[in-house]
Amino acid sequence: MPKTKIITSDQSEGRELTFEILKYNPTDPESKPHLATYKIRETPGMTLFVALNMIREDLDPDLAFDFVCRAGICGSCGMMVNGKPLLACRTRTADYPEGKIRLMPMPAFELIKDLSVITGQWMDRMSRRVESWVHKQEERNYSRIEAPVEPDRADATFELDRCIECGICVAACATALMRPDFVGAVGLNRIARFEADPHDERNDADFYELVGDDAGIFGCMSLLSCEDHCPKNLPLQEKIAYMRRKLASVK
Ligand code: SF4
Ligand code: FES
Repeated sequence: MPKTKIITSDQSEGRELTFEILKYNPTDPESKPHLATYKIRETPGMTLFVALNMIREDLDPDLAFDFVCRAGICGSCGMMVNGKPLLACRTRTADYPEGKIRLMPMPAFELIKDLSVITGQWMDRMSRRVESWVHKQEERNYSRIEAPVEPDRADATFELDRCIECGICVAACATALMRPDFVGAVGLNRIARFEADPHDERNDADFYELVGDDAGIFGCMSLLSCEDHCPKNLPLQEKIAYMRRKLASVK
């Protein structure tokens, strides 16, 4: 049932915000997907994290959503905000002058309940697919001093390592939504990360074996939505284009 109670309190004299939020529990046979409406008063500097907690506290204790760090670091709070995938903890209600905000769970990932999805399974599959670890022939010797790495190469690796696996680039990607086997910008970024890492001894042919197909580097339609929405501003399209050029010359 839609809920329309307006929350007001002493410190809540801001404008009225109307939230429409998908409610659905796929594990409950009685549950049917529907939009519930909630009205709350905006507080200064309000983020979606604050708003959702207010709604759960005062209007709907059953509402499910995920936050861990509240600082754009853990990647757990991705959701569709008025049709765009965003980190809810970094999204301010002030960015919506109309005061109407529709929240939906991110597509492409398994729904747990309401706004809560499992991104971990998808990321685990992607990590195995691109063999997301340093490949080296030589036996590891942990007591040996690490070989120095050129600062430029270290920077290039660390730059791409900033991904927080939030899944926003996947939810924003038309190819990923049409093809569940597409490795996505996050996976292609991972390949570029290991290609840049001097510790990894894989060559272009090895990377081609992993992603040299339409579900990998050649499936991207270059619509740029991954890069437009990535909260870490990773250079996803530049790296995809770079890897595509490299791998196209393998065969
Ligand atoms: S590449 Fe960007 S949008 Fe994609 S999972 Fe990593 S941080 Fe999120
Ligand atoms: S709660 Fe961690 S990124 Fe939003």
